[in-house]
Amino acid sequence: MKVFATAASLRKASINRKLINLAADIMRAEGHEVDLADFHEFDMPIYDGDLQDAEGVPAGAVELARRVNEADACVISVPEYNFSIPGLLKNAIDWVSRLDPNPFTDRTVRLISASPARVGGNRGLWPTRIPFECVGAWLYPGMFSLAQAFQEFNEDGTLKDPALNERLVFALKDYLSVTAAFNAR
Ligand SMILES: Cc1cc2nc3c(=O)[nH]c(=O)nc-3n(C[C@H](O)[C@H](O)[C@H](O)COP(=O)(O)O)c2cc1C
Repeated sequence: MKVFATAASLRKASINRKLINLAADIMRAEGHEVDLADFHEFDMPIYDGDLQDAEGVPAGAVELARRVNEADACVISVPEYNFSIPGLLKNAIDWVSRLDPNPFTDRTVRLISASPARVGGNRGLWPTRIPFECVGAWLYPGMFSLAQAFQEFNEDGTLKDPALNERLVFALKDYLSVTAAFNAR
């Protein structure tokens, strides 16, 4: 299966980038092709209806849509901002939603998160589900969040805790097997 994977953060040292890098390694080891994107590739201004009328949907949003369209599955690592979705991702979903057809419609999406908080980033994943649901994506029900993420990675990008690593492997494998069945229906 071809999987589109990205982290909704622009930070070089992003813990969500680390988590999606690890997720990509796990999925590749399972035999999947992974298109691992840096969100800088989807650079776009804040949504402005006048800008859309004058210039159309910006190239970064068109590129994001193209990459999602080319994939069979979609895994996004999302930081929690103020218990919610980061503006970067909400803005991207808003711009992409001006395209017809919407690339997320009738496509499965797996959300994961890394957070420095003890409780992890699941509070932010709940509201992140809403705009994806609005555009017709099928959100995998489980949410994986890596809590206290700054302490959890080894130098080589693997997880220190084997039990957590097992949970992440299951989180991805189960999502991809459900997606294979979903896409074959
Ligand atoms: C505007 C803003 C709001 C944040 N709100 C939360 C929050 O509600 N919960 C949380 O666990 N961390 C919060 N954080 C901390 C982020 O989880 C932390 O900066 C994390 O490293 C961001 O992800 P990244 O490393 O992938 O960029 C917030 C950070 C910023 C900049």
